[in-house]
Amino acid sequence: MDTSTASNSDPASTDCCGTRRRGLIKGLLAAAIGGLVALFPFVPGLLVLTSPLRKKRTIGGQMIRITTLGALAGSDRPRRFQVIAARRDAWNKFPPEPIAGVYLAPQGDGKPPRAFSVTCPHLGCAVDYNGDTDEYQCPCHTSAFATSGKTLYGPSPRGLDELAVEIRGEDEVWIDYKRFEVGKSKQIEIPS
Ligand code: FES
Repeated sequence: MDTSTASNSDPASTDCCGTRRRGLIKGLLAAAIGGLVALFPFVPGLLVLTSPLRKKRTIGGQMIRITTLGALAGSDRPRRFQVIAARRDAWNKFPPEPIAGVYLAPQGDGKPPRAFSVTCPHLGCAVDYNGDTDEYQCPCHTSAFATSGKTLYGPSPRGLDELAVEIRGEDEVWIDYKRFEVGKSKQIEIPS
């Protein structure tokens, strides 16, 4: 007699294996659910620990107070100011410090000044204002810009980056500080 054939066709044997399989699946499911339940109390903690990583860094893209209209009075020439802000990264908030420079160019007629980033759009050197020629000049590769920000000559692919100005209160001058990629003909903002 062929015992293997008899064993395979034995209903009792089939029922035994099916029961074992069902038991194994139940065990795996129970272990998976148990693991999820065990992790549950730690989820809020994990969210708290990783929350700084989900926060935006705040270097650019923020309104920053620069000076007062009173401090600009008495001259129609652009003046350079530091952009001072408190930087923040994923975990820390740093005390306010200079993070960039900006030129404020008075417009007269009661209009707010125009603001230009000092960063040369060519490769990022800081431009200087030359009062003799009434233009901004870059010391690195001799790009020059009119007081309107327009490129006069040199390799810069675009004019100086203008920043929006807002007058708050009586005479506080605030700018919408942003950074842009250098070496591009169009302004491409660098995310904060
Ligand atoms: S960095 Fe200003 S001209 Fe090159």
